[in-house]
Amino acid sequence: MKKLFISFSARENGNCDEIAKFLAKEEDEIIYFRKMNVHNCSNCDYECFSGYCKYHEDDSYHLYDEMKNYKKIVFIVPMYCSNPSSLYFIFNERCQEYFMHNEDEYESFIKRLFIIGIYGNQEQSLEFIPCLEKWFACSKYSNHVLGIERHKYNLQYKDSILGVDEIKKSISEFIYPTHAKLEESAMAVVMCKGKILATNEIIYGKATISLPKGHTEANETALEASIRECYEETNIEINESHLVKKLTPYQYEFLTPANKLIRKTLLPYVFEVSDFGNPLPKEERMISVEWMNIEEFLSLCPYDNVKNVVDEALASMK
Ligand SMILES: Cc1cc2nc3c(=O)[nH]c(=O)nc-3n(C[C@H](O)[C@H](O)[C@H](O)COP(=O)(O)O)c2cc1C
Repeated sequence: MKKLFISFSARENGNCDEIAKFLAKEEDEIIYFRKMNVHNCSNCDYECFSGYCKYHEDDSYHLYDEMKNYKKIVFIVPMYCSNPSSLYFIFNERCQEYFMHNEDEYESFIKRLFIIGIYGNQEQSLEFIPCLEKWFACSKYSNHVLGIERHKYNLQYKDSILGVDEIKKSISEFIYPTHAKLEESAMAVVMCKGKILATNEIIYGKATISLPKGHTEANETALEASIRECYEETNIEINESHLVKKLTPYQYEFLTPANKLIRKTLLPYVFEVSDFGNPLPKEERMISVEWMNIEEFLSLCPYDNVKNVVDEALASMK
């Protein structure tokens, strides 16, 4: 999915524009906000609170709506007179109307929103970065704002900040993180009489059908971890005598709400038991645990890599 970069600078081909061009890949989109047909909040009776803004038809509402279609949205905001630029505030204020009508979209919006602020220095402008961080106040998202301090590199207001390698790297790492924390998890695919032991748990705020799994602890093999996690999450006791096969490990990456890249290796094991036992959701984030028809599991589980594991498990049991 593509990314959207929005430059809130008044200046053509200045630092904000150049950062957008530096970061954007071919499939991405750049918007120069100064070129948009947008009204600032003025000459109105706060219609946005009870209905639609009187300027509803300008580019503003449409742009907020469009942002649903991007994997990442990157605002690039210069400091003008100790504050984020007025172009940024014009757009910021117009979110009132959009989120009045699309309240459910806010969380998804800030999850994908990243802001780069260009300013002189932190010491003289304590309020600049916190002002940009207001989008994320009272949310679980953090580290979504990167401040670039020109004075740290002796750069004047028109100097090119991308000329500094360290800045280039930090901007690039902010949007395209490469430094991943490595984590390992073990997974238990437990089958009984043609059914699979499925978990329904809250993952990042959403009820998700998956399989019992969890981190491998120190002094524990992945197989032991899969057995322990199965019991801790579902109340179903399995042991090594139920093991059918070690399945193919897989890796995936994700960003935490604190904008840290995690590269996770999943080590799945398939077990077969002859007794359904007493499945119970034992951890707080678990909604339910059940023996599910495999077809149903495959249609409800949202993760392709988990479904592949189940396919491999079924093949190994034939
Ligand atoms: C009207 C105006 C006010 C500015 N005020 C400040 C300021 O208070 N502090 C500061 O560090 N830089 C200030 N700047 C400099 C900009 O932050 C800097 O030039 C930045 O690189 C602007 O982005 P651009 O390169 O995309 O134009 C100001 C620039 C303008 C045009």
